[in-house]
Amino acid sequence: MVAEVLKALDLHPGEDCVDGTLGDGGHSLAILAAIAPSGRLLGIDADRQAIERARQRLQGYGDRVLLVQGNFANLAAIVRSQGLPHVSGVLLDLGLSSWQLGAAGRGFSFRDEALDMRLGEGQTLTAGEVVNTYSIEDLTRLIATYGEEPQARRIAQALVQGRPFTTAAEVAGAIERVSPRRGQRIHPATRTLQALRMYINQDLENLAAALRQAVELLQGGGRLVTIAYHSLEDRMIKVFMQEEARDCLCPPSQPVCTCGHKATVRILRRKVVKPSEEEVRRNPRVRSARLRACMAR
Ligand SMILES: C[S@@+](CC[C@H](N)C(=O)[O-])C[C@H]1O[C@@H](n2cnc3c(N)ncnc32)[C@H](O)[C@@H]1O
Repeated sequence: MVAEVLKALDLHPGEDCVDGTLGDGGHSLAILAAIAPSGRLLGIDADRQAIERARQRLQGYGDRVLLVQGNFANLAAIVRSQGLPHVSGVLLDLGLSSWQLGAAGRGFSFRDEALDMRLGEGQTLTAGEVVNTYSIEDLTRLIATYGEEPQARRIAQALVQGRPFTTAAEVAGAIERVSPRRGQRIHPATRTLQALRMYINQDLENLAAALRQAVELLQGGGRLVTIAYHSLEDRMIKVFMQEEARDCLCPPSQPVCTCGHKATVRILRRKVVKPSEEEVRRNPRVRSARLRACMAR
């Protein structure tokens, strides 16, 4: 969705922009062209491997590119550390890149020989520890909440009974035995593995922190553009933008405002932007992508 992202960011030559989810640097390359010849791009990614891949791809841009391995939950501190006085745009293209999902040894794929799922450094909890030690109740809650999996309890029971697990492939096998494919497009373990990944990496907590800091950074007309692939993340962004676009958040039954909330953003597109049919044909993984954008006041 590069064209849609650029349109929503509406960048101009010389402006500075933050790509909070650098990945392979595809969006960053397009942003660098839009802010040429002097605008700087700050690329952030929690994954060291992603930073190294993007560094090679962006090496021709010299000191117009600043790369930081870090969590976008620390957006404000990272921007401050790089000395960017005014940021005109922040992009958050959530989730993982295709190569990360398929990378051996990370445990993101249901064919993998690992069971780790940690994205950044300094994280201690692994998917293996969760699957092998959490109670049926905790696993059920986690799989139902983050995976929106209707079979959460049955899967949690199978995981507890099938312990110990050392690979994502074993976990996927145990899930497939109790929840076989019934003509559905996705593998029966997809939602559970996604739930484990979101829990291990605290995706929702990180997103909440990044949204708030982005709006503060962008004060005075800067634009925040997000792409979410998971309904929980998209809902969080939608509610955040809707609330931040309102002057008062008191319940409608309350005649006089007591919250004192002042709108901090203007929503740029009332309707969520979805990928074109052509883009989904080229890359079926983007079918669930939802783009939202707002401008800070
Ligand atoms: C969908 S990919 C981005 C792809 C990128 N827009 C491109 O054009 O190649 C999402 C990236 O965000 C990173 N990521 C996920 N959660 C993060 C977080 N909390 N902080 C920083 N990076 C994160 C992942 O490591 C991944 O590289």
